[in-house]
Amino acid sequence: MPDQRKNGPHRLAIVIMAAGKGTRLKSRRAKVLHEIGGKPLLAHVIAAASQIVPAKDIYAIIGHEADSVRQQVQSTGVQFVLQAEQRGTGHAIMCARKQIKDYEQVLVLSGDVPLIQPATIAGLRDFHLAKNAAMTILTAEPLDPADYGRVLRATASGDRVKAIVEKKDLNRTQQKAREINSGIYGFAVKPLLEKLDKLTTHNAQGEFYLTDMAAILVNAGKRVLALKAGDSAEILGANTLSELAALDSLLRARKCKKLMDSGVVIYKPESCVIDSDVQIAADTVIEPFVQLLGQTKIGADCRIRSYSVISDSTIGDRVQVRPGCVIDRSEIADEVLLGPYSHLRPGSDIGQGAHIGNFVETKKVKLGRGSKANHLTYLGDAKIGEEVNIGAGTITCNYDGVNKHVTVIEDGAFIGSDSTLVAPVRIGKGAYVAAGSSITQDVPKDALAFGRARQEIKEGRAKNRREIAGKK
Ligand code: UD1
Ligand code: CA
Repeated sequence: MPDQRKNGPHRLAIVIMAAGKGTRLKSRRAKVLHEIGGKPLLAHVIAAASQIVPAKDIYAIIGHEADSVRQQVQSTGVQFVLQAEQRGTGHAIMCARKQIKDYEQVLVLSGDVPLIQPATIAGLRDFHLAKNAAMTILTAEPLDPADYGRVLRATASGDRVKAIVEKKDLNRTQQKAREINSGIYGFAVKPLLEKLDKLTTHNAQGEFYLTDMAAILVNAGKRVLALKAGDSAEILGANTLSELAALDSLLRARKCKKLMDSGVVIYKPESCVIDSDVQIAADTVIEPFVQLLGQTKIGADCRIRSYSVISDSTIGDRVQVRPGCVIDRSEIADEVLLGPYSHLRPGSDIGQGAHIGNFVETKKVKLGRGSKANHLTYLGDAKIGEEVNIGAGTITCNYDGVNKHVTVIEDGAFIGSDSTLVAPVRIGKGAYVAAGSSITQDVPKDALAFGRARQEIKEGRAKNRREIAGKK
């Protein structure tokens, strides 16, 4: 939406209120850092706002747990305003007075209303500017108005608003009002700043309510309007853990739908957990009960089988991930075959066409093209070349109790089953390690290494033992 990024003739800022504690969550963590779709609430709101104005014109008001909030969203480039003491949404805006005074218009978003879409914000902006309003309130009429503040219109059919009344301050007749306040507004800066000091704390919660600006501006003869959102799901707030869970489900359903619309096959999408930023190319199949988390990227024509959990990893094209794999911060090239039950820990870099089989654990490993480690193996801190065969039960002994050491296995080497490679150690190109070896010295190119006791045969000894024991 490049045209929406332009600030237009009106200097426009976006303020995101994100300083509150979130008392109703019963959590020590700041509310806006609680996650849906694998990302903090505030990060979702910032992402939507960034489609409307450049990050330098976005001001996040932070207070509770300010340092961790700032740290988690700093990379977005937005500005921060500190509201050291949280005395209500009106007080939050008072704290940003200095920052907004040079703008003509300001859109106010709530850090705990995360499903809001850029198109809806743009719609509010356009309506607010076109109608030349002092304040425009984005509203909705959900089935259950729950604990939201209610918007009271001046007339049943007109745009004009009389007041916003908080749930705890509703009188008996006002309780019938069904239109709710989303906590998202457009303001002309001049009347907002002129009247901001008229807010009081004479209400049920003893806070400065930004919502009181509606009646204050109306009483000053200003134009205060309401605009109903097309989709009331977009303006749902997250005040309790169960509300958060509901938003998370909604967001993930929306994500799955988007992926399916782009050609990704997802069986039983309701059973999958796919984070907001995950990318998947067309014709990849995602089986039930798969989790794809963080910044994971999956290519085309892959099949991700059930019960696999993939975080912050990049997967190429035509990759098969069989059931029960755990993959974290790893790179998987095209045509790789993984699992069932493989554990790829951070720094695993698996080359084209390689195989990692059941009960194989890798960490900080480069496995070259076409190499195979199919069964019951630990590969840590290793550089493994192309077309290497790692036998069942092989272990790189990378840790001596103090330091980690590297194992190097060159192209075409063959590691016999149940071998331990005690690092630092190098197995040369085309070398062969006999099964059951404990390798503590480098093996030269094309050599055969044994590192085990030589087998002995005692003829008839088994039979003798049975006879002594009185058995046949
Ligand atoms: C608010 C509205 C209510 C609306 C609802 C929509 C007020 C008084 N009420 O209620 O009409 O229906 O949102 O979701 O505004 N915050 C601060 N500083 C503070 C207090 C809050 O930055 O001192 C932030 C919070 O972090 C939150 C947002 O403002 O992101 C809204 O605050 P919250 O306490 O959740 O307001 P609601 O009770 O939901
Ligand atoms: Ca809220």
